[in-house]
Amino acid sequence: MKNSLILIGGGGHCKSCIDVIEQEGRFAIAGILDKTELVGARILDYPIIGTDEEIPRLVPDHYFLITVGQIKSPSTRLAIYTKLKETGARIATIVSPRAYLSSHARLGEGSIIMHGATINAGATIGNNCIINSHALVEHDAIIHDHCHIATGAIINGGVAVYEQTFIGSRVMTREYITIGAESFVAGGMNIYRDLPKQSRVTPS
Ligand SMILES: CC(C)(COP(=O)(O)OP(=O)(O)OC[C@H]1O[C@@H](n2cnc3c(N)ncnc32)[C@H](O)[C@@H]1OP(=O)(O)O)[C@@H](O)C(=O)NCCC(=O)NCCS
Repeated sequence: MKNSLILIGGGGHCKSCIDVIEQEGRFAIAGILDKTELVGARILDYPIIGTDEEIPRLVPDHYFLITVGQIKSPSTRLAIYTKLKETGARIATIVSPRAYLSSHARLGEGSIIMHGATINAGATIGNNCIINSHALVEHDAIIHDHCHIATGAIINGGVAVYEQTFIGSRVMTREYITIGAESFVAGGMNIYRDLPKQSRVTPS
């Protein structure tokens, strides 16, 4: 029997997650938590059943996955993750059957590997990360907790991306560089040098 799963956050990223979860087939989605005014609405085939106030009541019978997106700030995903840990919730880890996760790579709790992503040998993905569709995390790279590696980004071999960082769509990083915690790299940027903590790299 499939384990029952509650999704937290019913926006666009949630839809992409639903498709991955359905294809993976390990969990049955029991419902979604979002804002009060959205309760009763449906996201794809699944109902919004309540707000995150419901989490403690749902903990005994369900797994949870955070399906809130993360672009401008990691704070919402981080706060929900902290709340889940405090309540002792079981947190799902999801890998698309259309992704490649090397058996020599490590993957943390609450992270999702979306369709077409590749996590190569020796790579490590922390907790509560999004490795989005068609992203590449090359050999020996480390993605620390609460990061979003957006669609089609290339994290080359041996790169370290520290926690709570956003790497935009189609970013390319030179091998063996370090990207400091809480950084933001806009879509399409090429990064050749180490970035300190709280860097913001945009086109202008
Ligand atoms: C950098 C970024 C945060 C700027 O957002 P913003 O402050 O809202 O700025 P705007 O979108 O209003 O863009 C301002 C201008 O810069 C351009 N621009 C924005 N981001 C750009 C980028 N990454 N590369 C090149 N040009 C960019 C816009 O086209 C716009 O040009 P215009 O003034 O001629 O119309 C945003 O564009 C970005 O890169 N977001 C991440 C996208 C992404 O990776 N999403 C992940 C999906 S999984």
